[in-house]
Amino acid sequence: MRKGVMRPGHVQISVLDLEEAVSHYGDLLGLIEMDRDDQGRVYLKGWTEVDKFSVVLRKADAPGMDFMGFKVLNDEVLETLEKDLQDYGCSVEHIAAGELKGCGRRVRFKAPTGHNFELYADKEQTGKWGVSNVNPEAWPRDLKGMKATRFDHCLLYGPNVEATYELFRDVLGFDLAEQVVDPDDNRIAAFLTTGMKAHDVAFIDCPEPNKFHHASFFLDSWEAVMRAADLITMTDTSIDIGPTRHGLTHGQTVYFFDPSGNRNEVFCGGDYHYPDHPPVTWKAEDLGKAIFYHDRVLNERFLSVLT
Ligand code: FE2
Repeated sequence: MRKGVMRPGHVQISVLDLEEAVSHYGDLLGLIEMDRDDQGRVYLKGWTEVDKFSVVLRKADAPGMDFMGFKVLNDEVLETLEKDLQDYGCSVEHIAAGELKGCGRRVRFKAPTGHNFELYADKEQTGKWGVSNVNPEAWPRDLKGMKATRFDHCLLYGPNVEATYELFRDVLGFDLAEQVVDPDDNRIAAFLTTGMKAHDVAFIDCPEPNKFHHASFFLDSWEAVMRAADLITMTDTSIDIGPTRHGLTHGQTVYFFDPSGNRNEVFCGGDYHYPDHPPVTWKAEDLGKAIFYHDRVLNERFLSVLT
């Protein structure tokens, strides 16, 4: 049952070299730089996003994901969910409004997989970038690179996928859209949604906590995915796999790495989910086809390279 969590709102990614990362996410993915703060963090977003930012880059000694944030409907929902998290046994941390520039107060909690998540109700709305909100043109003409439209989801690896799924389902109101089960019917992957998308966040079982597999950005078409792959080659960017199609979610995709080794995805298409839909199940013995629908075999890199 929905609890007022609207969508993935932001992800903070740690990078080794800030300006290299800004060039990667800005010039190659086509995200728009929106702001910087006195901690040196850089704020970016896809051009269709109405809120001020969705990606924050932070210079650090190691790559990875610092946290992922979900925007909730309003402050009343935020207060309710904060109490529900605490009643569920989650300790929450309060982050004051303005700690991220333009973002209201955030309620942070750690999932059993070891990842930091946060909820917030307010963020400055700067509108879609480069087009008006009245009689908007189809797209801005001066987009760079892959012209990524929006931050879409994260895929995360860690232990206790089942407990994390239960937390997201019971407290935050996410649905299980897709899953991977092993021959003993244990769930080893959970693709969770809080709307109609095939996933807003996904978890894959792994002994090591708090591992980041990828942050994903939405493109308009298969042609745009192909063009993104061309740009990966033109810029000599490290590619992981693709362009291809997933079995899980059926999205059309290409994977590559930022200069710090964080994996990115750009994709289009994908299944939709309504709350009355039963979850789609993939069998672990067919994991190759589930992940890479055409090759039907996994590359070792996809499973083992995490930040
Ligand atoms: Fe993905």
